[in-house]
Amino acid sequence: MTIKTLPLLLGDRSYDIVIGANLLESLGERLQPLLLGRQICVVSNKTVAPIYLAQVIDSLHSSGFSTVEIILPDGENYKNWEYLAKIFDAFIENSFERSATILALGGGVVGDMSGYAAASLLRGVNFVQVPTTLLSQVDASVGGKTGINHPLGKNLIGAFYQPKMVVMDTETLKTLSPRDFSSGLAEVIKYGIIWDADFFSYLEKNMPAILKKDAATLTHLLYTCCSIKADVVAQDERETGTRALLNLGHTFGHAIETLAGYGNILHGEGVAIGMIMAAQLAQIRGLCDQQTVERIKQLIKNANLPVSAPNHFSPDDYLKAMGRDKKVSAGKIRVILNGKIGQAKIYSDIPHSQIKQAIAAHSEE
Ligand code: NAD
Ligand code: GLY
Repeated sequence: MTIKTLPLLLGDRSYDIVIGANLLESLGERLQPLLLGRQICVVSNKTVAPIYLAQVIDSLHSSGFSTVEIILPDGENYKNWEYLAKIFDAFIENSFERSATILALGGGVVGDMSGYAAASLLRGVNFVQVPTTLLSQVDASVGGKTGINHPLGKNLIGAFYQPKMVVMDTETLKTLSPRDFSSGLAEVIKYGIIWDADFFSYLEKNMPAILKKDAATLTHLLYTCCSIKADVVAQDERETGTRALLNLGHTFGHAIETLAGYGNILHGEGVAIGMIMAAQLAQIRGLCDQQTVERIKQLIKNANLPVSAPNHFSPDDYLKAMGRDKKVSAGKIRVILNGKIGQAKIYSDIPHSQIKQAIAAHSEE
């Protein structure tokens, strides 16, 4: 099976994204020339560690690294200060030095927390991402956004901090639950809507093969998504413009996740519903036709994702939660809206009545 390497170009912080099957076996070899220090703190969780940790540790030891492992409980509701401190404690108690590395083995939760720990410890130590969910492979592990949740809002505390390498082993997706796999597909569909109409059509045609986790199809999928993300991040690392497009559906989605209680609606599920609400808002604003909204909704449905939000929150609850989004500027909610498939822009000054109308149109009866 082919291994594909994609560079993310950020000057002296550039790094490779390596995509292929069975890459965990050779992880140590890959990292050896890259990392000067020999200490690696491997962060994982109680679900991923029993499946993949031994293989990773063996590979790292064979290449002369020493390791300490931190196994966090599993779930979005542990992505907080209390559990971030467990990474700090283990790193400091084991007298790790500045040349040490934090390696994230897991999904976006482990990756975001580990990256933020790496950004803060000793004012910055090496960071390596080994993402094991579809969502973290196509999105969260690439581009350097790290952080934790606050009870009042998602990902409100964090830092931009780039990894030294991202290694994604497509085989790890075989053990992922269907619900988590579909959650990742929301971010995949996002790239089609904001950036690449041909890729959107490809997803429409190939969803059955994707859901069967066909290896060649998955490699193509990961490579396409990571190429788009690498392009966007290289243009706008700190999200002063273009990168905000990657947040399509997220302002709605984060509000849904926060209101439902972290972990009850998965990140990708919130984003999926949010992208439909954003498309509806775009239609209300005359930016796209209703047929485009229906096409987006159908693809999301075909990916086995939910298409409407829980009905126990009012549009006012959503507006309040959306008002705490990181994109709020001068007190105004900013949202990404699609035009034709493959095109999107950031908008502010949208009347709240129209936002509420879009939310109500896609909330459960
Ligand atoms: P997650 O990390 O909670 O993983 C989902 C589930 O899959 C968990 O139960 C996990 O233990 C399990 N799992 C992971 N790998 C597995 C495997 N190979 N086999 C079996 N089970 C496995 O969630 P996620 O969907 O990966 O990521 C969501 C998080 O990522 C959210 O916190 C979101 O805010 C964040 N995120 C960050 C960025 C970014 O740019 N930093 C982008 C998108 C999302
Ligand atoms: N997931 C959005 C971004 O990385 O900017």
